[in-house]
Amino acid sequence: MNFIKVDSYDKLSAIAANIIASQVTLKPDSVLGLATGSSPLGTYAKLAEKYRAGELDFSRVTSVNLDEYVGLDGSNDQSYRYFMDNNLFCNINIDRNNTYVPNGCADDLKAEGQAYDEFIKKLGGIDLQLLGIGLDGHIGFNEPEAFFTKETHEVQLDESTIEANARFFASKADVPTKAITMGMMSIMQAKKILLIANGAKKKDIINKAFFGPITPFVPASILQLHPDVTVIYSEN
Ligand code: GLP
Repeated sequence: MNFIKVDSYDKLSAIAANIIASQVTLKPDSVLGLATGSSPLGTYAKLAEKYRAGELDFSRVTSVNLDEYVGLDGSNDQSYRYFMDNNLFCNINIDRNNTYVPNGCADDLKAEGQAYDEFIKKLGGIDLQLLGIGLDGHIGFNEPEAFFTKETHEVQLDESTIEANARFFASKADVPTKAITMGMMSIMQAKKILLIANGAKKKDIINKAFFGPITPFVPASILQLHPDVTVIYSEN
């Protein structure tokens, strides 16, 4: 594991954007696994800057997102599809038809999960997976539980996750209680993983996840078993 500690969110975002930019430059048809939440916003802004400066071309990139709330479609401004469209895709030249987010409105979420995993496999897997981390150690929406789940699957969100994400909604009651998330198989099979976290409040979970025992009760701890993980953390 490559653990990089920096002293500002701006530096974290610059390094993360450089890693993603290198990936796209070296392999223009990369499959990028993308994440939502507040952590990647700076990275996405810097990627858009690089695109505008003519340094990056996303026209052959395919993206697969980690997760989506159950019951929110892309027109809902709290959906992760909406987040990606508005915080990244509209600012770069990726073909929107090549951007994928699990469908949280599918009638059969189990079938949706299976189809998502099959699709990622057909793409040849993920070249670079970007991750944030929840305060309880979740990655994507893989919440702490007694086992690691392999497949893309429906999850019941933990109370702490609902509370943490309530800041994006009008009220806590508006936060969906369920989500569909990529499981550990597609994440762990990614060729490279880049996890970003910032803020003093994430210090404890970063220590547990990367310097503590590997346990499904701290889902991100599984990343210790991956051969090519970079973690960038800024306490500020
Ligand atoms: C959500 C997302 C995760 C993200 C986490 C942390 O729960 N499903 O993918 O990593 O939030 O969010 P933030 O970066 O805002 O702390």
